[in-house]
Amino acid sequence: MIDGDFSKGIAFINGTYVPIEEARIPLLDWGFLRSDANQDTISVWKGVVFRLDDHLARFKRNIARLHMSGEFDEVARRKIVIECVRKTGFRDAYVQIIMTRGVPPAGVRDPRQCANQFYVFCVPYIWVATPEQQRQGLHLFVSGIQRVPSTSVDPTIKHYHWLDFEMGLFEAYDHGAETVVLSDAEGNVTEGPGFNIFAVIDGKLITPGQGVLDGMTRRTVFELCAETNLEYVAAPLPAHRLREAAEVFLSTTAGGLIPITRIDGRPVADGTPGPVTWRLRDLYWKKREAGWHGTPIEYDQVPSS
Ligand SMILES: Cc1ncc(COP(=O)(O)O)c(C=O)c1O
Repeated sequence: MIDGDFSKGIAFINGTYVPIEEARIPLLDWGFLRSDANQDTISVWKGVVFRLDDHLARFKRNIARLHMSGEFDEVARRKIVIECVRKTGFRDAYVQIIMTRGVPPAGVRDPRQCANQFYVFCVPYIWVATPEQQRQGLHLFVSGIQRVPSTSVDPTIKHYHWLDFEMGLFEAYDHGAETVVLSDAEGNVTEGPGFNIFAVIDGKLITPGQGVLDGMTRRTVFELCAETNLEYVAAPLPAHRLREAAEVFLSTTAGGLIPITRIDGRPVADGTPGPVTWRLRDLYWKKREAGWHGTPIEYDQVPSS
C-alpha cells in the first residue's frame, strides 16, 4: 500500500496520516501533562458516519470555550475525519477527534502561548459491552465517588478528566459489577465512563438534566422518543429512583443503547432487559442502517484481481 498499512487503524498527527501503531504525541503536550484537551467521538456503521456535522459542531463549541483554535478549520476537520475512515476501509469504526493545548515555548507557563494541536484517530468500532452483556444487560454499581463538579469542570466539554470514573470502575469491579455511574453532591446520579444513563419510571423516560455531557446518543434517544410518542424528561435522578426503575439503560456512541439489568447486586425489575429499552435500541440501529443522520463514505474500489 502506498500510504502505509492502516489495517489496524490510522491517526492524523502533525498534518500527516500514520498507521495507528506509529501514532505518537509529544510528551510535553499539555493535553497529556494537564489533561488540557477536548475530544469528540464519532461512530461509523456499515460505511456511514453518524451525525458527523453534529459532532463537528459540538467539537467547535467546546474548543471555543477552552480558548483553543489550531491550524485546521471545521471544513478541514470534516475532510480529515472522512479521509481517516476512507483510508482504513473500515465499515464499522470508532473515530476520535482531539484538540490539545499543545506544547508551550520552553519555560513558558502561559496557555495562550501554546500551539493547539488537532489529532484524529480511527480504529475498528469499539463496544462498551460484549455481545453477551448487550443481550443480558450490564451490572451497574452506583459509586459514592462524586463526578468532578460542574462548577469545576464543565461536563458538556468532552474532556479527559476520568480519574473519578477510573476509580469508580475499580470500586465497581470490587463489588462484582461491570460498570459504574457516579453521583453529584446531592446524591443524584450523573453519568458513567463514556455513557449517559436513562431510567423508565411510570412509563416515562428520565435522564439526568445537569452535570452530564449532552451525549450525541442521548440527543438521539430524545429524537426517538419524540418520534414514538414516548414521554421523556431531563431532570435530577436520585440514586434510589434509579434502583426502583422499571428499566435502566445507558447511551453511548460506543454501542448505542445498552440495557442495565442489575444495580448494586440487585435486579432492575425482573432482571431482564425491558420492552422500552429493546424498542428504542432496535429503532436506533434500524434507522442508522437506513442512513439516518448519515454521511456515507466513498471508499476506494478494491481492484479486482
Ligand atoms: C462522560 C461521558 N458521558 C456521556 C457520553 C456519551 O456521549 P455520546 O452519546 O456522545 O457518545 C460519553 C461518551 O464518550 C462520555 O465520555
